[in-house]
Amino acid sequence: MAIRINDNNFYLETENTAYQIQVDRYDVLQHIWYGEKTNQNMDYLLDYHDTGFSGCIYDAGNERSYSVDTLPQEYPASGNGDFRIGALSVRHADGSRALDLRYKSSRVLEGKYAIPGLPAVYDENGNAETLEIVMCDKVSGIEVVLQYAVIPDCDVITRCAVIKNNGTKPAELLNAGSLCLDIPNGEWEWIHFHGRHTLERCAERKPLLHGIQTSSSSRGTSSHQQNPSVILCSPECTETSGKCVGAALVYSGGFETNIEVDQLNQTRLIMGIDTNTFCWRLAPGEVFYTPEAILSYSSGGLEKLSHNFHHIIRNNICRGKFKASKRPVLINNWEATYFDFDENSLFNIAEKAAQLGVELFVMDDGWFGNRNSDCSGLGDWSVNTEKLKNGLVGLTSKIKQLGMDFGIWMEPEMVSEDSNLYRTHPDWAIKIPNRDPIRSRYQLVLDMSRKDVVDYLFDAISKILSSADISYIKWDMNRSITNWYSAELSHERQGEAAHRYVLGLYDLLERITSAFPDILIEGCSGGGGRFDAGMLYYCPQIWCSDNTDAYDRTKIQYGTSFFYPVSAVGSHVSVVPNHQTGRITPIESRAVTAMAGSFGYELDLNQIDDKEKHAVRNQIERYKQYQKLIYNGTYYRLSNPFEDNYALWEFVSEDKSEVLVHGMIFRTDSNANRSCIQLRGLDRNKYYNMDGKIYGGAALEDGGILLPQPAGDYYPIELYIREN
Ligand code: GLA
Repeated sequence: MAIRINDNNFYLETENTAYQIQVDRYDVLQHIWYGEKTNQNMDYLLDYHDTGFSGCIYDAGNERSYSVDTLPQEYPASGNGDFRIGALSVRHADGSRALDLRYKSSRVLEGKYAIPGLPAVYDENGNAETLEIVMCDKVSGIEVVLQYAVIPDCDVITRCAVIKNNGTKPAELLNAGSLCLDIPNGEWEWIHFHGRHTLERCAERKPLLHGIQTSSSSRGTSSHQQNPSVILCSPECTETSGKCVGAALVYSGGFETNIEVDQLNQTRLIMGIDTNTFCWRLAPGEVFYTPEAILSYSSGGLEKLSHNFHHIIRNNICRGKFKASKRPVLINNWEATYFDFDENSLFNIAEKAAQLGVELFVMDDGWFGNRNSDCSGLGDWSVNTEKLKNGLVGLTSKIKQLGMDFGIWMEPEMVSEDSNLYRTHPDWAIKIPNRDPIRSRYQLVLDMSRKDVVDYLFDAISKILSSADISYIKWDMNRSITNWYSAELSHERQGEAAHRYVLGLYDLLERITSAFPDILIEGCSGGGGRFDAGMLYYCPQIWCSDNTDAYDRTKIQYGTSFFYPVSAVGSHVSVVPNHQTGRITPIESRAVTAMAGSFGYELDLNQIDDKEKHAVRNQIERYKQYQKLIYNGTYYRLSNPFEDNYALWEFVSEDKSEVLVHGMIFRTDSNANRSCIQLRGLDRNKYYNMDGKIYGGAALEDGGILLPQPAGDYYPIELYIREN
């Protein structure tokens, strides 16, 4: 049994961790422990000292050592004596804001709970267990059902909250967090992932300060600027040792991660939907589901934490035919042509690519409507026959004859003002009456909270997908959302538009993936602006960044790797000088960097010289050989490219018989010692063969291996090692 209820205690156990909750003598739910597995009830750690000056619930009378403001809470509501950041905040019909949640009931259920309308971890084998704890505010009738799940072999705990209005009056949810984690003891640092368009998920680690620190997005997407994932770690935590806790939100809209260090040096983490763009009216009888949060704890450093997230996202979030199967090596014409192409020029790119071993041709933006620049055409999902004179069928059948599959780019959630769709349905775009809408990339956003919009998009996309032999869609979303308003919602419900948008998006993706299960969808949002576990439920890979510069990519992919598996990362080789940075890197360095993902090319292979063409053919062959190891192997960060002079990472097969080290040395130094790198995750008792030389596993881990002497900057590294 992974979950046990014993008297007033709840025990959740994963392979290596334990989570404990207790109902205290006032029926308040206290968080007791999240950490190493233990048989001990950890409630002896609760510190009941004199807190007479702190908020105390009425029924605790004069008990000076009891305060909800100082004791660790499992799901604290605001306005009731706990002055720290809250998980739930409600405005009642009379305008008051307090909520006093007390324990009502609990049960353990077989299987993993699901969340209606929202992506969530699933368990195909049916061995998961769910704990439900019901709490209730007597005065208002607001009920909160906390759901937790444990999945065998996964060192994670999933959580969400279901909020019901069992009262007789409407209430407004102002904050509905997915998770609260109180850590009463210890000093902690936080790692979060900030960035911008073309430089996503830069890992930043800082000591926590007293007060509140936030990483969040109010952009309607999880965003380039912050990621809905966070790590708290002890100051001495490294890749391979030390304590850390990670949390990721399975959500693609605006989010909020708040961490507070309180007056008593206690740490509280709260994660959930962005409160700036959220206010949800809960009428009597209505229910609200928060998105799911995934929690994991490691006492073996950041590497083990990442492995836990890679495992759960790869196996229990990603779905469909492509979840485990190999993904095609693709070529995408975006950086080769931008909007300037026709059937012939695309065919020429595809033809050369097919000769060199590429398996899928992807036609990017510009094939539809009047789309000759980014100022027009979005929404008109019918083929532009001035560019593709024989339509989609004409181009597709020619590509198919080359032995390649065919894919297309779409940006379904958007509309250009210069489009037939906008001229016909101006009210479908998100706009506030009497205000000019904010444009971004010259475009507006369709109101995905409307059923008629989602139905229209389902039909329009289905028509395109059924009109030709299409195997892949790049599902793009190229702007942040603002001017939240929906013509379909009453004024009291306008605060729901942002979350309803995400629900509409998920509904559309669910319908498309069910209707076209054989089509691979790659997510995208100006590159990696919506790289989150929510999108990965529908698309097993996401274009990681519009920045294809190999040097920058090592940093972007390093940050991405803390939570997301390599199989989720879309990564391509492009031309030099690179279009985003002007940097020149060797084609081999671009290739090994792009191989840490679903590999492809983003250039016209006719434009490179014969030596490079030869290199491309060889890269594709190597990638096909390594693909299983790269996708299913265990991934190790061997360096920190923000600090070291090299970026190196390693894949180890499950049986530890095969090892691949990839990366690059950034700057070359004359007359310098070669760098030595210690491998990880090997079988210490095995012998390994690298280029005909035999090494012991322990030697490779303890002593390491000397890297080649670089001859030039951004020097590529590839070491392939097999059990002897
Ligand atoms: C976004 C994507 C790019 C490309 C363009 C097309 O920026 O991230 O890869 O598809 O849109 O407009």
